Amino acid sequence: MPFEGGFHTGTLPKESIQEAALGVGSLAFPALSALTKRYPMPLFRFRYMAQAKSGSDRMEKIVSLCKRRGFIFQSSEIYGGLNGCWDYGPLGTELKRNLKDFWWRRTVRERDDVVGMDGSILMNRQVWVASGHENTFTDPMVDCRNCKSRLRADQLTEKNGRKQCPVCGGFDLTEPRAFNLMFKTYVGATEDESAVTYLRPETAQAIFVQFRNILEVSRKKLPFGIAQIGKAFRNEINPRNFTFRSREFEQMELEYFCRPENGLELLEYWLQERLRFYRDIGLPSESLHVHKIPPEECAHYSKGTYDIEFAFPFGIQELEGVAYRTDYDLTQHQQASGKPLDYFDEESKQHFIPHVVEPSAGVDRTMLALICAGYDEEVVTDEKGKSETRTVLRFHPRMAPIKCGVFPLLKNNESLVRRAREIVDQLRREMMVFYDETGAIGRRYRRQDEAGTPFGVTVDFDTIGENGPALRDTVTVRHRDSMEQERIAIKELPAFLSERIR
Ligand code: GAP
Repeated sequence: MPFEGGFHTGTLPKESIQEAALGVGSLAFPALSALTKRYPMPLFRFRYMAQAKSGSDRMEKIVSLCKRRGFIFQSSEIYGGLNGCWDYGPLGTELKRNLKDFWWRRTVRERDDVVGMDGSILMNRQVWVASGHENTFTDPMVDCRNCKSRLRADQLTEKNGRKQCPVCGGFDLTEPRAFNLMFKTYVGATEDESAVTYLRPETAQAIFVQFRNILEVSRKKLPFGIAQIGKAFRNEINPRNFTFRSREFEQMELEYFCRPENGLELLEYWLQERLRFYRDIGLPSESLHVHKIPPEECAHYSKGTYDIEFAFPFGIQELEGVAYRTDYDLTQHQQASGKPLDYFDEESKQHFIPHVVEPSAGVDRTMLALICAGYDEEVVTDEKGKSETRTVLRFHPRMAPIKCGVFPLLKNNESLVRRAREIVDQLRREMMVFYDETGAIGRRYRRQDEAGTPFGVTVDFDTIGENGPALRDTVTVRHRDSMEQERIAIKELPAFLSERIR
């Protein structure tokens, strides 16, 4: 599963415009081009070329670790794979679950003003007509860098064998990008136009079309939000950078409905909330960047959009969009469906369509950010003076797929094994634990370092009282990052660990 580094051609309109505007497509690692918008050329061009090499080396190691340790596999690998699709292995699945659970906890359970929903992936085609996806996602488009027109690729004129912008006559055009990213499918037995619908390209629309039902059953007052986690599908022309741009991925979206006059203020509020979330899952502050999308690049209905970006080894790239979408979506669906999607304000006795602020995050991108941020190699020297490089995933304990490894010092000592097994049984009700009795203890620690396991518990002869009563029923807890060890009573272990992984 080689890392598809190298040339990155974004397919999302916003990103493509940025790349096109920068005109740095010939850099060794053009995904880094996003960086250049922050710094003057050409000084940084050279620096990025150097970084690009180390970035791609690092990325290759990360991709290899992901396969070796069972985080991420190529989909349908034994048949040669399917571009843009990925499978998560045992560790990846746990990491993903922890990430989604924490998002849900922060966004829904810890708040009074947000409720959840879980919509279907297939929806009535009219949803995609009303939302604008069917029409605006239909053709390969190019952007003219000169006059900024967005043009259908098949409507360009030609002069001397070169494609030309029909608006300004310029030749400085981006590569065609498929703007209809939706996967078409047929519902039912007949494959005709009346049976067409699409795999949803975002989870948000289900929230908009269920707005009325959820408002009624939840009896919420503005401002309030509806949250959803689910799969989305986009037929990206050029899936790139490992799982970063995939054709099948998951989103964690919140539509936060409000009064029009509070929209801008809530945009700032949600930006800060989402930055706090990323810090709380262990992404270092310095790896997070906020990019305010210039008004001319925002969707026509948006009154403000921020991208939260992360410094991936292949460049600073979008993790999440936080957009103030005004009343666009509800208005569109109200008009198209003929059903009221307004809100009755009891104080002012007025009906109006609420505005919405939307923080929209990608599960897969955030996982990739967690793995990239956590990946570390360090040279360690043992007590005999022998040095080796240890690979460690420094996940925040609340994200780590396995919270604790449990190791009997020797596998052929029945008392040690029994005690270790008892500890596993006790802990596994509350967290993911891993029992390992094979190989030298140092090897076992290293294996868990690579899996990102923050704690290792070793049952030794002190535990079973063979060296006297003083340390009986205690274990060694080894900390992944510092490699320091401390002695803890077994009865205190669940509380000790739970407190640190919450
Ligand atoms: N409802 C708004 C919306 O879908 P978006 O910026 O197109 O906005 C939101 O997508 C997030 O979904 C992105 O910030 C990214 O994290 C994730 N995402 C979008 N396209 C993706 C893709 N092809 N592969 C992986 N994640 C993607």
